[in-house]
Amino acid sequence: MYSAVDFQAFDETSISNLDEKKKVAERLAASAETGQTIGAGSGSTAYLAVKAIAARVDAGEIERVTLVPTSHEIEMTIADLGLPVGDLFCDQPAWLFDGADEVDPSGNLIKGRGGALFREKLLFESTGDRRVLVDASKCVENLGSKFPVPVEVVPRALPVVMPELKRLGATSIEIRRGGGKDGPVITELGNVIADCRFESIGDDMEAQIKSITGVLESGLFQGYEPTLVTPD
Ligand code: 5RP
Repeated sequence: MYSAVDFQAFDETSISNLDEKKKVAERLAASAETGQTIGAGSGSTAYLAVKAIAARVDAGEIERVTLVPTSHEIEMTIADLGLPVGDLFCDQPAWLFDGADEVDPSGNLIKGRGGALFREKLLFESTGDRRVLVDASKCVENLGSKFPVPVEVVPRALPVVMPELKRLGATSIEIRRGGGKDGPVITELGNVIADCRFESIGDDMEAQIKSITGVLESGLFQGYEPTLVTPD
């Protein structure tokens, strides 16, 4: 098998809820069919799903599956596993899978712990068949209970964006710091991430955040009503 890169996005021993995530990944992979183009989200559960799909290809159960990635991390994983890497310019995904940090009872999501929120949302817009991989730790009554809402901001726009986020009710805003570098995380699109805590998140919060000049995207995914793939 030709592999263009040698890259392990995750050390499996460090993945939280590994057994549940593996079950979810395998259930998802079982629905992949020969010849499909599938959108691939980011994060550890999506990583396990890519591996489970690749295992089915290696076993000869399915063939010619193209995955459209949402981050360098998942693109390098797809390439390392010898699967074709697709691109939204020329490939229309039949469906997508992705993980989430929180999911509420209506299927609204917070995503973006991994910083890939813009390409993840772009992929959500590319197909109506959205499958979100969730283990029990992701389920919350109200969005924002555990995770902040990540907002990707053009760096020069921070002085304009931060007061607007506060006006929308952000009680704390932290510019995400890099690991393995000093200073802020710089996204794959050259922006920074403002992690915002809100007391409550209304149905129109995603649209309100998006309307601020200087915001590229937020990790709020409201109203998509994805299919949830759970361990059982
Ligand atoms: C990355 C994401 C991930 O899908 C989300 O953080 C879930 O990650 P994990 O599957 O590792 O728990 O949105 O930007």
